[in-house]
Amino acid sequence: DASDYGTDGHEHFMHKEIAEQPDAVRRVLKGRLDERFHTVRLGGLEMDARELREFRRVKILGCGSAYYAGQAGAQFIEEVARIPADAEPASEFRYRNPVIEKDTLYVAVSQSGETYDTLVAVQELKRKGGRVIGLVNAVGSSIARECDGGVYLHAGPEVAVASTKALTNMLVGFALLGLHLGRIRDVSPADGRRLITALQALPEQIEAILDGEPHLAAVAKELAQAPSLFFVGRTRGFPVAREGAQKLKEISYRHAEAYQTSELKHGPLALVGPELPTVAIVPDDELLDRNLGALQEITARSGPLVVVTHDGVDLGVVAGQVITVPKSEPELDPLLLTIPLQLLAYHAALTLGHDVDKPRNLAKSVTVE
Ligand code: G6P
Repeated sequence: DASDYGTDGHEHFMHKEIAEQPDAVRRVLKGRLDERFHTVRLGGLEMDARELREFRRVKILGCGSAYYAGQAGAQFIEEVARIPADAEPASEFRYRNPVIEKDTLYVAVSQSGETYDTLVAVQELKRKGGRVIGLVNAVGSSIARECDGGVYLHAGPEVAVASTKALTNMLVGFALLGLHLGRIRDVSPADGRRLITALQALPEQIEAILDGEPHLAAVAKELAQAPSLFFVGRTRGFPVAREGAQKLKEISYRHAEAYQTSELKHGPLALVGPELPTVAIVPDDELLDRNLGALQEITARSGPLVVVTHDGVDLGVVAGQVITVPKSEPELDPLLLTIPLQLLAYHAALTLGHDVDKPRNLAKSVTVE
C-alpha cells in the first residue's frame, strides 16, 4: 500500500528505492519466464503471436528517464528481435505531426502512467489508428488504461523524483518484450535460454553492485567538485551515459552532458582537460578496444576519468578511477551499468547538501503540458 510507504530506515526514498531493486526485478520477472520453451509469457499484451509478427517496426515514446530507458529498449529489441526500433520523446512526437504506420508497434513507457505528454501522444496515436501498448509501473493509471494492453513493471511505488527501480524495471520490461517478439520470429531456443538465464541472474548481480556503495560514494565526492562533466558511451552504452548524466543533473545540479564516445573527436574533445571529468561506460564487448582508444585521448589531455566497466578489463594506458559491475549477456549489460550511476548521483547530491528526493524545479510526475 503506497500510503504505508516510508523510508524504512534509509535516509532518503531514493536510497531505499535503489536498495529495493533486486526485489523489484524479481517481481517484474515473476511468472513471465517460460523455461520450457525458452521464451516469455506476457499475459497483458492483448495481441497474439500472429498479430505481433505483422509489425515491421517498433517506436517507443516516453519522457525523461523513461525516454532513455526507451532508447536502451529500442536497441535491445532491434538487436535481439531484429525489428527496426527507435525511441523518441513523447513530448516531441505529437507536435511534429508524425506519420502513423499500421505495421508499427508503438510502445508508451512511463513510471507514473500520468505524464501528460506521453498520455496525449498515446491518445493522438489511437485517434489515427495506431496500435500502442504500455510499459507502465502504476497499475490502472491513465496511460495504462489508454493502451491496448501492455506489460506492468511491478517496481512498486516510487517516491524520489529521480527514477531508479522503475527505470531498472523498464529495462527488464523491454528485454521481456524484445525476447517475446524475437522468439515468435527468428530467435533460437538456445538464444532464448541464454537471455533467460541472464535475466534470472540480475537480482543477485544488482546486490553485488550495491555492496560497492562505499567506493561509489568516495568517487562521487570527488566528482561533485567539478562544475561540469561528460558522460560517454557508445551503442548499448550510450543510453546508459545519457541516463547517468540526467540523474546527476537532476539531483546534484551539476552540468553533465552525454556524448557517444565515438563523437568525442568530432567536437567535445576540445573541452577535455584537468578541469572536466568524464564518466565513461566501457562494457567488455566487441567495442572495448575502440572505446579504450578514445579514452586514451582523454588521458593524454589529463582529463580525469571514471571508467564504469567489467571485471578483468585491462585499461592499458587509460588512467582513472575504476568501477566494475558483473558481466551479463552483452544485450543486457546496459541494465547493470546504470546501477552505479544512480549511486554516483545520489552521493554527489548528498555531498553538495541538496534535497535528494525533491530536487528544485522538478516534479515526480508532470501531469500538465
Ligand atoms: C518527470 C520526472 C522524471 C521522469 C519523467 C517521466 O519529468 O521528473 O524523472 O523520468 O517525468 O515520468 P514517467 O512517470 O512518465 O516515467
